[in-house]
Amino acid sequence: MATKFRRIGVLTSGGDAPGMNAAVRAVTRAALDKGVEVMGIYEGYKGLVHPNLRKFTARDVSNIVSRGGTTLLSDRCLEFKEEEGMQKAIKTCKDNQIDGIIAIGGDGTFRGATDLSVRGIPTIGIPATIDNDITSTEYSIGFDTAVNTAVELIDKLRDTCESHARCNVVEIMGRNAGWVALEAGIATGASAIVINEVAFDEEKVINEIIEAKKSGKRNFIVCIAEGVPAVLGDKLYSENFAKRFEEKTGIETKFVRPAHILRGGNPTMRDRLLATQLGSEAVKLLLDGQSDLVVGVRDDKIVSTEIGYALKLDRMYKGTLKDGDLDKYTNVQVAEMKIYCEKRNADLRALYEMAYEMAH
Ligand code: F6P
Repeated sequence: MATKFRRIGVLTSGGDAPGMNAAVRAVTRAALDKGVEVMGIYEGYKGLVHPNLRKFTARDVSNIVSRGGTTLLSDRCLEFKEEEGMQKAIKTCKDNQIDGIIAIGGDGTFRGATDLSVRGIPTIGIPATIDNDITSTEYSIGFDTAVNTAVELIDKLRDTCESHARCNVVEIMGRNAGWVALEAGIATGASAIVINEVAFDEEKVINEIIEAKKSGKRNFIVCIAEGVPAVLGDKLYSENFAKRFEEKTGIETKFVRPAHILRGGNPTMRDRLLATQLGSEAVKLLLDGQSDLVVGVRDDKIVSTEIGYALKLDRMYKGTLKDGDLDKYTNVQVAEMKIYCEKRNADLRALYEMAYEMAH
C-alpha cells in the first residue's frame, strides 16, 4: 500500500441510482479496514467546490446498504466544469488532507475524476446509473434494481390488462439506451419492445398483434425506451403510438410513464453485491497508487479501465467519436475497442431477437 494515503474522500454525482449507498458503505468500510480515514463529500463535486464534507466512521455508513437514492446527495455541478471550480475543489482536498477520491456516478462523474487526477488528486470512478449505458462495464450499479422495479410494475399492469382485454404502452427510462426497456420487456413477456438500438417495423408488429388477438390473446404490453421519441423527432411518440395502436388493433390501450419511479427504491441483492465488489476494488486500486481508472464488470470479472479509454470506447459504441479521439491509441487498442463494441451490440441484438421470438 502506498503510504501517502492517510485519508480519502467519497462522493456520488449525477443522477442517483439504487446501490449508490451500498457503494459508499463499501468504500468507507474498505478504507477504514486498511487504516485510511474517509471523508464523505456531499452533493457530488459541489461539496468540493463549496466545502461540504465530514469525516466518516464505520457507523456513518451503517444501515445504508439497503437504502435507495444517495445519502451523500447528488448534483450535476456546472461550476466544477470550469478551471476556477476545479481549483476550488483541489484546495478543498488539500485543506482537508484528502489524498485521493472515489467518485460514484456516470460519464460526467468520470470526466470529473480525470480532471482531479490530472491535477494531482488520484481518483477512481465507480459506474452507477440505471441506464446501463457505460460501455466499459457490462453492468452499472442501479440497473438491476431499475429492471426489477419495471418488471414489478408491468406485472401489475398485465393483471388488469388481462381482465379487461387491454394493452398498456409503457415508456421506460434509460436516457438513450434501451437496456432497461429490453430486459424488462423480456422478463414481462412484452408483445413489442421499441429501442433506439434496433430498427422497429411498427406496421408489421401491429399486424402480428392483430393476429395474436384473433388467436385469443387478451393482454398486450408494449415497452418503449425513453430515448426513442427524441431520436424519432416526436416528443409524444409513445403517447401517439398508443393511440395508433388502439385505432389499428381495436384493443383499448392505456399509456403509462413510470419515469423516476424506476430510479428509486431499495437496491436488489445483485446491485448491493456489485456495489460492494466495485467499492472494495476501487479502494484497493487507489491505495495501490492507481488513478484515473473506472472499475466495472466484464465476463463476470471485476476489471478496471483507464477513464480516457473508457470514454472513447463509449463514444465508439454510441457512434459519437470526434476527429482525433483515437489518435493516442495503437491499432491494436482500436481493434480491441471495435471488437468489444461489436460484441456488446451483438449481445443486445441477440436479446432483442429472442424477445421478438417470444412476443406472440
Ligand atoms: O441517467 C439516469 C436518468 O434517470 C435517465 O434514465 C434519464 O433520462 C435522466 O436520468 C433523467 O434525468 P433527471 O433526473 O435530471 O430528470
